[in-house]
Amino acid sequence: MSSQRESQHSFVVVAGRLPVDRTEGPDGQQEWRTSPGGLVTALEPVMRDAGGVWIGWSGDAGPAPGAFEADGLHLIGLSLSETEVRRFYEGFCNATLWPLYHDVIAVPQFHRSWWEAYVAVNRRFAAAAAEQAAPGATVWVHDYQLQLVPKMLREQRDDVRIGFFNHIPFPGYEIFAQLPWRRQVVEGLLGADLLGFQRRADATNFLRACRRAVGLATKGSTVRTGARDVTAAAFPISIDSAGLTELAQREDVLKRSKQIREAIGEPRLVLLGVDRLDYTKGILHRLRAYGELVDSGRLGPQAVLVQVASPSRERVEAYQTLRDEVEAMVGRINGQHGELGYAPVHYLHQSFPREEMAAMYLAADVMLVTPLRDGMNLVAKEYVAARYDEGGTLVLSEFTGAADELAGAYLVNPHDIEGMKNIIVQAAMASPAEARRRMRAMRRRVGEHDVARWAAGFLDTLSQVPVSGDS
Ligand code: F6P
Repeated sequence: MSSQRESQHSFVVVAGRLPVDRTEGPDGQQEWRTSPGGLVTALEPVMRDAGGVWIGWSGDAGPAPGAFEADGLHLIGLSLSETEVRRFYEGFCNATLWPLYHDVIAVPQFHRSWWEAYVAVNRRFAAAAAEQAAPGATVWVHDYQLQLVPKMLREQRDDVRIGFFNHIPFPGYEIFAQLPWRRQVVEGLLGADLLGFQRRADATNFLRACRRAVGLATKGSTVRTGARDVTAAAFPISIDSAGLTELAQREDVLKRSKQIREAIGEPRLVLLGVDRLDYTKGILHRLRAYGELVDSGRLGPQAVLVQVASPSRERVEAYQTLRDEVEAMVGRINGQHGELGYAPVHYLHQSFPREEMAAMYLAADVMLVTPLRDGMNLVAKEYVAARYDEGGTLVLSEFTGAADELAGAYLVNPHDIEGMKNIIVQAAMASPAEARRRMRAMRRRVGEHDVARWAAGFLDTLSQVPVSGDS
């Protein structure tokens, strides 16, 4: 066997980003630490067993880190040029596909130069996967940034099994059809053997796009592409539930959750929002409803909303506008209803480590997860997993994937401000017994359906797909 072959892997993950963060060691040297996100937690055991490799973008416009190891994981860091960061990442991914796939909450922009960058970057990822995959390997491609990779990879390597998982919604055809490159995107995805979506509705939307954009026949969840059948089905993603429950029970985290309530003045009622600062998350709608509730006094005296809005995609215009709007609204609510020593909204435009997040979840009485559109929303599941005490209630938008699973949540339509206000009051006033009953049901679901089960479910299904070379 050649050395090229020896360095190949029987399991390859291809994702927009690497599962590691760049940090600085004590000696000032650059180090990579695995980020404790759900996806890497789920895939780590599979990666270790199969001697897998993870291909992704390092997150900046610097030189490609190439092949390296972090915490025993084999990683390949690819680079993007400054122009590609603008045209591929900020442009086609996050100013074309992101708004389009989230039901055009913001207006998608279509630029041919952005599309060309998307094709070029997808080609680079596909070439890296083709190089890393051992004969007959399983390659798992992730998310909307890399929809052309399955086809590009298959053209080079028809011996590998290819899975693709879409972490965000797949829109209805009337919206998807706006994309000038709709046919290429569908054909790109159809290079996979198995396509996973968050909700059944997303898979159905994709199957319709196959019929309408490419003229292919579908039967049930199968698309006939000539030589091969491709399956499109729902595999709702989850979190490392046990890990978070364990973290929330740690002495220091419990102590911190008490400190958080003290720091905000021991209010009777604490509401919590935790989001990336993104227009899909419905933060403005939530603030409007909360502001009116404070105005009317329906939440009682001196309620507090802690709103964490972690910085995201800060060079994209729609995100800059949103930040201005959110900060203006927070200022208005605090200016109007605050007192010396009391602010109704504590707004934190920051990211926090897991420990701090777990402490915040425990400190909350009501968690507000009110996106206008969200593929799944893992914050809702994290909150449930952290509440080992079975306390707290969850207000959840019906436009999230999580709403299909979390029957114990108080469901809302975030566009209906009056309706959302009423539900928030209900969730805040729930009796401890009612809150516990609901939380228990949600904890059962999140405990059983964790991210390891999600990954195993997807990979088992993929392993049953016959590929060329199978007898
Ligand atoms: O699936 C949505 C997603 O791309 C996640 O993978 C990621 O955590 C989040 O959005 C933020 O994305 P970005 O890579 O643009 O920071």
